[in-house]
Parts: sequence; structure tokens; C-alpha cells
Amino acid sequence: MFTKIAKLDPTVAARLVRAFDTAIPQVQQQVDTGEGVFAADPGTVLAWLHEALASEYLAWMTYYTFGGTIRGLFKGPVSDMFFEHADEEAGHAEQLLLWISVLSRNPVQQPPIPMPPTLLSVADMLRTLVQQEQTAISTYRRGLELAGTKEGFRQMVETLLEAEQEHSNDLISLVDNLGAPT
Ligand SMILES: [Fe+2]
Ligand SMILES: [Fe+2]
Repeated sequence: MFTKIAKLDPTVAARLVRAFDTAIPQVQQQVDTGEGVFAADPGTVLAWLHEALASEYLAWMTYYTFGGTIRGLFKGPVSDMFFEHADEEAGHAEQLLLWISVLSRNPVQQPPIPMPPTLLSVADMLRTLVQQEQTAISTYRRGLELAGTKEGFRQMVETLLEAEQEHSNDLISLVDNLGAPT
């Protein structure tokens, strides 16, 4: 089974744009970074945040694109899960953006949104997503090492790590239920 590039739903695309236009100015006024100190210098933490953000953008785009292009027998249950995960990845990106806005001395620039791979079979979609989730899990484990005693930051990273582990488990369950489509 092959896919084609989906037309991007403008209402979904607008969500991440809103993270810059609305959420960040609000949070810059409201967020208290709390007690505690990072286990690394702010530049290292900021670099990590940008790395994590890039992977969340990629995850969001990949789930959304795959969800919109999948066809055939697997469309219902698979695309439903992909869209649900896509929405959650967008939420993760928003949380990272908030911390970037707090730690960055300069206005946050919107990074380029990566394009996911296309023309994949369902099996290859699942392999791609499992790999992306494993990368995200590694990224958030690294984030925990950087968190030190910065409790608010640590809580965010723990929450995101748990979410990515759940995503990974969802995908593995899907593979089991579908009987490893090819
Ligand atoms: Fe995520
Ligand atoms: Fe995920």
C-alpha cells in the first residue's frame, strides 16, 4: 500500500502558529520557572530544548501526514490513533516552546517545520513512527539528566517521557493487532 502527500488542514497547521503568536507572550508574563537549578548551563538546556522541539515538530508532521494519507483496510483504527498522537505531539511542542521562551534572551524564532517521509507502506509508517518515538524517549531521558533540581522543568520532561512511552506502546500494540502488515 502506498500513500500520497496529504493536503495540510489549515486549522491544524494554525495550532503551532498560535503557540508563537499567543501562547508565548502570555506565558512570558505568567510562568514562574520555580525553585531549583539545572544540572547544566542554560545554553546547554536551551540547545536541548531546541533539539527536542525539532523532534516534536517532526513527530507532529509525521503522524498528521500519515494519518491523512493512509488508505485501505487500516484506515479507521490507524488514522484515528495517528491523529490523536499528532495532537498530543503538538501539545508537547507547545510546552517546550514555553520553556524556550523563558530561557531564551532573544525572541523565539519559529524553526522550519520538517517534512515527514512519504510514499511509505503501512508497515514502513509504523516502523518510522516507532523509531521516532524511541528517539524521543532517548531525548527526554537526556532531558532528565539536565533537569537537576529544577522541579517544574523536571515535571515537564517526566510527563513528556511518559507520553512518548505510551505512544511507543500504542504503536507496538497496533502492530500486534494488525498482524504486522507489509
Ligand atoms: Fe511528543
Ligand atoms: Fe510521541
